[in-house]
Amino acid sequence: MNPSVPDRLRVLLEGRGLTWPAPIEHSETLGSTSDRLKDLARAGAPGWTVVLAEQQTAGRGRQGRSWLSPRGNVFLSVLLRPALPAHYLTLVPLAAGVAVCEALGEAGLEARLKWPNDLLVRGRKLAGVLAEASSGSGGLEAVVLGVGVNVGLDPRDLPLEIRESTTSISAETRREADTVAVAAAVLARLTLWYHALDREGPDRVLGEWRTRSVPWWGRTVEVLSGDRILRGVALGLDERGALLLEREDGVTVAVLSGEARELRLKGTGSGGTDL
Ligand code: BTN
Repeated sequence: MNPSVPDRLRVLLEGRGLTWPAPIEHSETLGSTSDRLKDLARAGAPGWTVVLAEQQTAGRGRQGRSWLSPRGNVFLSVLLRPALPAHYLTLVPLAAGVAVCEALGEAGLEARLKWPNDLLVRGRKLAGVLAEASSGSGGLEAVVLGVGVNVGLDPRDLPLEIRESTTSISAETRREADTVAVAAAVLARLTLWYHALDREGPDRVLGEWRTRSVPWWGRTVEVLSGDRILRGVALGLDERGALLLEREDGVTVAVLSGEARELRLKGTGSGGTDL
């Protein structure tokens, strides 16, 4: 009999020197791995509990978007019960982005991070991270980190409006990739970066994030944050991971969450990005 997905995952993690400290649950089909994990969290699941699914019927992305979730890709959520200093928490999603970026490196891909944690290859989205915090009477109780990686997805099967802006590991490498091996790489790297943040503080995560980010700095970007649109020159990140934008009036603002895109301004020489 073939080993189960959780057993295979545990073996791959052991091979990396990591004994996974919590339950790993796998399903053929779920609405959303993050929704399932939130239920488990409410029922008292320990930190580092993982939920994986072969496909999702109601996969969720950032900013209220849906996440297309057909079979052959990675859909996983991992529960963090952070004992981190509160002011490090906003860096957890960025650390997760760095971890996924490294995992894609193992698959032979040089992905770039688009603030806050979109993973792009040749400017096309290959993976994303959704971090959701839940609090109770005692303050922050859990962070559910959801990671979606396009592994076997064929962009030609996608609706026209996202075909050109989406890619996958197999579309980029022209090789099949093993979803369980990709999940193991993500989880192993995630534990490393989470502990780096805990032990060493924000600087290492921020430095690594910046090294792997799209080369936006000094260029004009637009951020949709809630119902506001902010526009300015991207200067960098502050110590919380907020995006620093210098507005046209010279004022620098820090944006903690949102959806960013580079504006390709005509005639300014700032267009033609090489994401
Ligand atoms: C994004 O918009 O970039 C984030 C996408 C996150 C998708 C993953 S797939 C596993 C987990 N379950 C969900 O419903 N969403 C996340």
